[in-house]
Amino acid sequence: MMGSFKSGLAWLLFASGMGGAEAIIRGVNLGGWLVTEPWMTPSLFNATATEDEWHLCNVLGKQQCLQTLQQHWSTFYTRDDFVQIKAAGLTGVRVGLGYWAVDLLDYEPYVSGQYPYLIQAVQWCKELGLTVFIDLHGAPGSQNGWEETGLVGAIGFPDNQSNADRTLHVLRNLTTEFQKPIYGGVVTNIEPLNEPIFADAQLKAFYTQAANVIIASNTSGVNFTYHDAFYNPPPWKNYDPNNVNAVVPAARTTLDTHQFWAFPPLTNLTTTQILERICQYAQTMDPANSHIPPTLVGEWSLSTGYTANSTTDASQDQAKRTWFRTLFEAQNAAYTPNGPNQASIGWYFWAWKTEYDIDAWSFRKGIQYQYIPSNVSNMSTYAFPILDNGCINTNFSYTAPASSNASGTSTSSAFGLSATQWLQPGLAVAMVGLVGLL
Ligand SMILES: *[C@@H]1O[C@H](CO)[C@@H](O)[C@H](O)[C@H]1NC(C)=O
Ligand SMILES: *[C@@H]1O[C@H](CO)[C@@H](O)[C@H](O)[C@H]1NC(C)=O
Ligand SMILES: *[C@@H]1O[C@H](CO)[C@@H](O)[C@H](O)[C@H]1NC(C)=O
Ligand SMILES: *[C@@H]1O[C@H](CO)[C@@H](O)[C@H](O)[C@H]1NC(C)=O
Ligand SMILES: *[C@@H]1O[C@H](CO)[C@@H](O)[C@H](O)[C@H]1NC(C)=O
Ligand SMILES: *[C@@H]1O[C@H](CO)[C@@H](O)[C@H](O)[C@H]1NC(C)=O
Ligand SMILES: *[C@@H]1O[C@H](CO)[C@@H](O)[C@H](O)[C@H]1NC(C)=O
Ligand SMILES: *[C@@H]1O[C@H](CO)[C@@H](O)[C@H](O)[C@H]1NC(C)=O
Ligand SMILES: *[C@@H]1O[C@H](CO)[C@@H](O)[C@H](O)[C@H]1NC(C)=O
Ligand SMILES: *[C@@H]1O[C@H](CO)[C@@H](O)[C@H](O)[C@H]1NC(C)=O
Ligand SMILES: *[C@@H]1O[C@H](CO)[C@@H](O)[C@H](O)[C@H]1NC(C)=O
Repeated sequence: MMGSFKSGLAWLLFASGMGGAEAIIRGVNLGGWLVTEPWMTPSLFNATATEDEWHLCNVLGKQQCLQTLQQHWSTFYTRDDFVQIKAAGLTGVRVGLGYWAVDLLDYEPYVSGQYPYLIQAVQWCKELGLTVFIDLHGAPGSQNGWEETGLVGAIGFPDNQSNADRTLHVLRNLTTEFQKPIYGGVVTNIEPLNEPIFADAQLKAFYTQAANVIIASNTSGVNFTYHDAFYNPPPWKNYDPNNVNAVVPAARTTLDTHQFWAFPPLTNLTTTQILERICQYAQTMDPANSHIPPTLVGEWSLSTGYTANSTTDASQDQAKRTWFRTLFEAQNAAYTPNGPNQASIGWYFWAWKTEYDIDAWSFRKGIQYQYIPSNVSNMSTYAFPILDNGCINTNFSYTAPASSNASGTSTSSAFGLSATQWLQPGLAVAMVGLVGLL
C-alpha cells in the first residue's frame, strides 16, 4: 500500500548538502511589505478605499503617505519575524520591491524610503543564516496591470522604452549594492520582473538586457532569475538570454514559476485532481531529458477552489487542517528535488503572514495550527511518506489532530475571522485575465 520510500539516511545526506548537492530552498515570501497590496494589509487601504499603492499615496499626499508607510515598513516585518522564519526550518526569503524605492519621478505619487528596510532585512538574514531572493514586484508602467505591481490598470511597461531603461537602472543598483562584501553573499537571486504578461519577443529582449546587468557585471554571486510569464517551465528549455540557438540553459540562470490552484480554470479541480496535478507538474520539469533550467516555485499557497468553498477557518476545522496538511506536503515534496524527474530546486510559499493571517496564505498560522510541519527542513516532522517518484503517497491515511493547539510559535494578529471574509477578491478578479495564458 505504501510503496517504497526514500531512505531517511539518503535524504539526510542530500538535504544537508553532503555529497555536493546544492542546498534545497524552502522559503517564504515577505508579501505585502515593501510593496503593499490591499488584500494583504487591508487596514492600510480601508480609509481611502483605494486599490493600489499608487492611488493610496495619490489620495493621502506624499507627506501623509510616507508617514503611513514608514509605520507599516517598520512594524509589519521586524527581526522577530526573521527569527521565527529561521526557527521554522525555512532557508530563505523572497522579497518584492517597487522601482520607486530607487527611481522615483516627481509626478509619480509614490514615496520612497523602503531601501533601508531592505538593507536591514538582508543584514538580519546574513546574521541568522537565511538567503535572500529580491524580485522587482513593481516596474514602471506596470508589467501586468495588477495591484501587486502598485498600479492597477493597463500593462504599460512595454509601451515606453523609458520604462525598461528605468528598470535596468534599478537592477543595476540592486546588483551592485547586494554584491558588496558586507552583505556576505546572502542575496542569491535577483528577478527583473515579477509575473510579466506581455509579448514573448519583447519580454525576451528585455530579459537579455536584464541578464547583462545582473550576471554579466560580475563573475560570481547572484543568479539571474526570470519569471516564466505564465507559460510554465517547458517552453523555457535551453533558455540562454544571449543565445537563441543554445542547447543548454545558460549558467547562473534560474527559472521562477508560480503555481496556484486558486484561480480559474483550476478552481474546479477536485482535491484528488489537485494532488495528481501537483505530482504531474513536478514531472514535467525533468532536467535530464528536457533541459529546463533549475527552477524555483517562487509563489504557491494552500488556496484552492475547494478552500474558497469552505466557510470555516482552519483553526476551527479539523477536516480543513487535514486537507491543508496534505496539500502542503504534496507541494513541498513535488517542488523540491526528491525524485529523479524533478527540476525544481525549491520553493517560496506566499506568504509568511498577512495582516489577519488568512489560513491558506499564512505560513506562520499553518505552523501554529499544525497544518504546516514545525520544521520544513526536518523530514521527520512530515506526516506523509515520499515515494521514489518524489511525490507524497496520497494513499497514506492522515487525519489532523482534533485539537489544533500549537506547541510552537504564537502570532500577534487577530484570528477568528472566517475564511470567506478574508478571501482576496481583488486578486481573484485580477487573475481571471490569465485564463488564456495558463
Ligand atoms: C493508491 O491507491 C490506488 C487505488 O487503490 C492504487 O491504484 C494506487 O496504485 C495506489 N498508489 C500507491 C502509491 O500506493
Ligand atoms: C480599517 O482599519 C482600521 C485600522 O486602521 C480598523 O480599526 C478598522 O476596523 C478597519 N475597517 C475595516 C472594515 O477593515
Ligand atoms: C515615457 O515615460 C516617461 C517617464 O517614465 C515619460 O516622461 C514620457 O513622457 C513617456 N513617453 C511616452 C511616449 O509615453
Ligand atoms: C541604490 O539605491 C538606494 C536608494 O536610492 C541608495 O541608497 C543606494 O546607495 C544605491 N546603491 C547603489 C550601489 O547605487
Ligand atoms: C563581484 O562579486 C564579488 C563577490 O560577490 C565582489 O567581492 C566584488 O566586489 C564584485 N565586483 C564588482 C565589480 O561588482
Ligand atoms: C543558480 O544557478 C545555477 C545554474 O546556473 C543553479 O545550479 C543553482 O541552483 C542556482 N541557485 C539558485 C539559488 O538559484
Ligand atoms: C466551473 O464549474 C462551474 C459549474 O459547473 C461552471 O459553471 C464553470 O464554467 C466552471 N469553470 C471553469 C473555469 O471551468
Ligand atoms: C461546494 O459547496 C457546495 C454547496 O455546499 C457543494 O455542493 C460542492 O460540492 C462544494 N464543492 C467542493 C469542491 O467542495
Ligand atoms: C530543522 O531541521 C534541520 C534538519 O534536520 C536542522 O538542521 C535544524 O536545526 C532544525 N531547526 C530547528 C530550529 O530545529
Ligand atoms: C527532527 O524532528 C524529529 C521529530 O520531531 C526530532 O525528534 C529531531 O530531533 C529533529 N531533528 C533535528 C536535527 O532538529
Ligand atoms: C487549546 O484548545 C482548547 C480546546 O480547543 C482551548 O479551550 C484552549 O484555549 C486552547 N489553548 C491554547 C493555548 O490555545
